[in-house]
Amino acid sequence: MNTTQYLEANNQRFLDELLDLLRIPSVSADSARNEDTFRCAEAVKSALLAAGCTHAEICKTKGHPIVYAERMVDPKLPTVLTYGHYDVQPPDPLDLWTSGPFDPVVRDGKIYARGACDDKGQVMMHVKALECMVQTQSLPCNVKFMIEGEEEVGSSNLGKFLKANKDKLKADIVLVSDTSMISMEHPSIETGLRGLAYMEVELTGPNRDLHSGVYGGAVANPITILAKMIASLHDKQNRVKVRGFYRDVVDLSPAERKALNDAPFDEAAYKKDLDVDALWGEEGYTTLERTGVRPTLELNGIWGGYTGEGAKTVLPSKAYAKISMRLVPNQDSRKIARQFTKHFERLAPPGVRVKVTELHGGEPVVTPTDGKAYQAAAKAIETTFGKKPIPTRGGGSIPIVALFEKVLGLKTVLMGFGLDSDNIHSPNEHYGLLNYYKGIETIPHFYKNYAANH
Ligand code: BES
Ligand code: MN
Ligand code: MN
Repeated sequence: MNTTQYLEANNQRFLDELLDLLRIPSVSADSARNEDTFRCAEAVKSALLAAGCTHAEICKTKGHPIVYAERMVDPKLPTVLTYGHYDVQPPDPLDLWTSGPFDPVVRDGKIYARGACDDKGQVMMHVKALECMVQTQSLPCNVKFMIEGEEEVGSSNLGKFLKANKDKLKADIVLVSDTSMISMEHPSIETGLRGLAYMEVELTGPNRDLHSGVYGGAVANPITILAKMIASLHDKQNRVKVRGFYRDVVDLSPAERKALNDAPFDEAAYKKDLDVDALWGEEGYTTLERTGVRPTLELNGIWGGYTGEGAKTVLPSKAYAKISMRLVPNQDSRKIARQFTKHFERLAPPGVRVKVTELHGGEPVVTPTDGKAYQAAAKAIETTFGKKPIPTRGGGSIPIVALFEKVLGLKTVLMGFGLDSDNIHSPNEHYGLLNYYKGIETIPHFYKNYAANH
C-alpha cells in the first residue's frame, strides 16, 4: 500500500480527528481559555505520538506551551522540522457565524470552524501525512515537529525557545503549512512573508470625561484629534507618511515585478467577493504588489467615548487606536516602531498627551526558489495537482520564520494549502475537504523528493 492508498482507506477517521481538535477553543489571546489552550497542546502531542513520533513533549514557556515531537530514522538522513500553531484567533463576532466556531461541521465540502484552515487543519495534514508514511514504511528521513500556541499573539516566547534549544531543533529545512494558494486550479507557493510592527496609541485630553455641552467647544476632544492624526498618516497617493517609512524598502527589479504580476488575478471577482465597488491602495502599484511587496499601515481598531446604546453627551478624556504596519525586505520592525512613535508623538497638538506602545513585531522574509526544498515542494504539488505551482508573495506574517534563519540558520518552505477566501481570522472560517486531503497526499511527496535529492 502507498501513502495515497492509506489515506483513502482512512479518510473518514482523518477528518474525525481534525474535527476533534477543532472542538478545543484554544484562543491564545483570551486568558479565560488558558486551560483549553493547554488541553489543545496535549491533544496535539497525543496525535503526534499516535501518528508515529517516538518522542513527544510539552515544553512550558512563560505563555502557552510548545509541542515538540520527533521520529529519528537515521542520523545520516536529512531532518525536516515542521512548524505550525495550534492556537487560534478569537471567534468574535459570534453572531455572524452560521454554526458554532468550536462546533465544527462539514457543509458544501468545507469544514467550518475557527482554526479549520489557520492552522489546525494544516497542522493535522502533517500529522496524518506522517501516519501515512510510517504505516506504509515509506518515511524517507528524520522528522521533527514544533507546534506552538502563541503564533496568533506574536510568538513572543518562541524566539527564546529557539535560542535555548538549538541542538534539539537541529534540522536541514523548516516546512510550514500556514499560508495560502491562489486556487485549486492555480496551485502556488508563497515565497515571502511580510513583517509586522503592531502599535497601540492612547490620547488623553482632559483628566476626566466632561459634559459635552458645558465644556464642548473649549477643550480638545481626544477623539477628534486622534481622527485627524490618523487621517494624516496617508497622503493623497495613499502612501504612508510616517517619516522614514520607505527608506529601507528594496524595490523589485522590473523582471521580478513582471513575474509577480504574471500570477492569475481577477480584479472583478476580487471586488465582487468583497462587495466593494473600487479597490484602494498605494498609487502606482497593482493589487498583487500592494499586498505582496509593498509596506502598509492599517488601522485595526479605534475606540473611545460612549459606544453603548442610545446617546450620551460626553467629551471623553481618552481615545485609542490599534495600528499595525506590514513590512517588506529590508525594513526592520524595531526601527519602524521607533519611527512611528516619534512621528505620532510629533503629530499631537497642544491640549492632548499621547502614549504609543509597541505590542509586538516581526521581520519580513523571502524564501529561496532555487533550493532543493522549494524544488521538492514544487515537484510534490505538480504530482498531486497536475500543475507546476506559481511562486507568489504573501501578504501575511509569521514572525518566527525570520528567526529560523537568524537563530537556527535554517531556510523555510511555505507549502500552504489554504485559500484567501477561507475567512481566516473572520466569522465562518473554513477549510476545503479537498485542500485537507490534497495536503495529506502532497506532503509525503515532498519528503520523498527532498530526501532523494539531498
Ligand atoms: N497563518 C497566518 C499568516 C498568513 C495567512 C500568511 C495567510 C500568509 C497567508 C498567521 O496565523 C497569522 O495570522 N499571522 C498574523 C501575525 C501574528 C503576529 C498575529 C498576521 O499575519 O496578522
Ligand atoms: Mn497561521
Ligand atoms: Mn492567523
